[in-house]
Amino acid sequence: MSSYPYQIKSLDDYNQQYKRSVEAPEEFWGEIASHFTWRKKWNKILNWDFRTPQIKWFEEGKLNITENCLDRHLADKANVPAIVWEPNNPEEHHRVLTYKDLYFKVCQFAHVLKNNGVEKGDRVCIYMGMIPELVIAVLACARIGAIHTVVFGGFSAKSISDRLHDTRAEFIITCDGAYRGAKEIPLKGVIDDALIGCDFVKKIIVCTRTHTPVSMIKGRDVWWEDEIKKVETQGNADFTAVETDAEDPLFILYTSGSTGKPKGVVHTCAGYMIWTNYTFVNVFQYQPGQMYFCTADIGWITGHSYIIYGPLSAGATSLMFEGIPTWPDAGRFWEIVEKYKVNILYTAPTAIRSLMAYGDMYIEGKDLSSLKVLGSVGEPINEEAWHWYNSKIGKGEAPIVDTWWQTETGGILISNLAGITPSKPSFATLPLPGVQPVLIDDKLNEAQGNDVKGNLCMKAPWPGMCRTIYGDHERFRTNYFSTYENLYFSGDGCLRDIDGDYRITGRVDDVLNVSGHRIGTAEIENAINMHEGVMESAVVGYPHDIKGQGIYAFVIYQGSHGNNEMTRKDINETVTKIIGAIAKPDKIQFVSNLPKTRSGKIMRRILRKIAENEINALGDTTTLLDPTVVDEIIKGKL
Ligand code: PRX
Repeated sequence: MSSYPYQIKSLDDYNQQYKRSVEAPEEFWGEIASHFTWRKKWNKILNWDFRTPQIKWFEEGKLNITENCLDRHLADKANVPAIVWEPNNPEEHHRVLTYKDLYFKVCQFAHVLKNNGVEKGDRVCIYMGMIPELVIAVLACARIGAIHTVVFGGFSAKSISDRLHDTRAEFIITCDGAYRGAKEIPLKGVIDDALIGCDFVKKIIVCTRTHTPVSMIKGRDVWWEDEIKKVETQGNADFTAVETDAEDPLFILYTSGSTGKPKGVVHTCAGYMIWTNYTFVNVFQYQPGQMYFCTADIGWITGHSYIIYGPLSAGATSLMFEGIPTWPDAGRFWEIVEKYKVNILYTAPTAIRSLMAYGDMYIEGKDLSSLKVLGSVGEPINEEAWHWYNSKIGKGEAPIVDTWWQTETGGILISNLAGITPSKPSFATLPLPGVQPVLIDDKLNEAQGNDVKGNLCMKAPWPGMCRTIYGDHERFRTNYFSTYENLYFSGDGCLRDIDGDYRITGRVDDVLNVSGHRIGTAEIENAINMHEGVMESAVVGYPHDIKGQGIYAFVIYQGSHGNNEMTRKDINETVTKIIGAIAKPDKIQFVSNLPKTRSGKIMRRILRKIAENEINALGDTTTLLDPTVVDEIIKGKL
């Protein structure tokens, strides 16, 4: 017997639930919400208008998400592992935090935050490696009603500084350093660089991980461990969760769009909690006692929703891994699966393709028989990778769920449900209950029936959708709700096949998906253009065997420093400093000019075709100011 009354049990059940969710959404979600812990029940379940846009779920309901992730499990799951942590170095000891342990650690750290002046509504920037203290920090913020904004450990000082300015965060939680494979990343050092010009930051709490020497500024910087000792001497074991409104912000997470400046996506407490829990329980068909392993980093939305909030609100055991799939060798995931008898594995196509390329010898001899469900997220999974994942990892017996969603959607919107609804290679398949996808064709009409394609939009809100862009509601409106009237526009192209299954075909805007990381071309161009000697640049994506998409930069360079190879390295260094190593171009082609229209607009479509090696499909080039630049660029193609 499952302990989740709203867990879908069969294809028929799915069809019925889906129908109900569309016909009577308030009744449907009200019933599901009643299985959570509330301080005060809501007055109205849903209030929405995509024109303004305004989206409110469970209005005037009061709760604290950590009471749902921790306190409510203490009665029957106190000794169940909540977080199992596998360190970067396989020689180091792993850690297990039961629900009781995690509860106490979160309470303790909530006291630390309070002692250091953090209050409800304050923004707290978290820049840490993948250690349990990161989960503790996130939940402690939520417990006191502070808004966490986690920044991925691979982002540069400049990126952190931009985010700090945008949120005006006065508090930072970081580590001395982080381990990632053979590398050691000096997190506190990066924070110190980021803080130049951020005088509004009052406190930095530094957790020890790598024992890297760090500078600690008196009065501003404190050690995590010292602060915990103070709380221990105060003898405060519990920390009563601060009551939040259903619609209070829970966190801000930055993501890239088609303009240069990343957007601070805001998720709120109740809707997000219910959505991550509901989708976790249904898509993976989680059963109490199972070992669930999501390989994402908590710096991205997948880690927020499917390492922390979804699994913990469901009382599941969430395995978190500090390292990378290929260190010390490409068998690391499979060793972890064997060691902990992982039942559900949720990873990204880029990791699958990379491990597939290393060869099957890393799987040989590993016992993967515990695996019951496999998941994929972040980018389209190509058929070859799907089949490898299915046959070599799942031995043909573990259903693969191909989960489509976005930072903005909070949780999974389109996916098959493991073992319940059918899977189809490279198809996300069917919408979750509450999700109403529509495809809009070139003529701005809703594509009717099956065997059609168009831009993927949503017709109605679901509880987990983001509510605004931090500090810029107008940008929220123009970005998602102004392309098509009364619809949320995802930015993805999509087709619906003859069976009614959805297949995501990729972004239709200027956003790239590189190794599952979302990066705007404008953001990369801005960084390249900051390099001395660069006059102009244009960035496009191209198919890449491992990364899914690679970054191809066309650059007009008039500097005189060094040769092309050196300049390429210098430009890459600049991009690393401005954004982070994830945004480094794979290819940099120097050109004397870019294809532009007479009005000066760069024709990226042409550059994309060149980068994709489709020079016979360039289309009309006669509208270009100087069509000869195209020949020159084709000749110099890398
Ligand atoms: O293009 C889609 C792709 O990733 C984008 C969202 O990126 P991000 O906000 O970083 O969130 C990633 C983790 C949810 C989408 O617009 N994408 C995500 N999942 C899939 C996908 N494309 C195809 N299939 C998927 N399963």
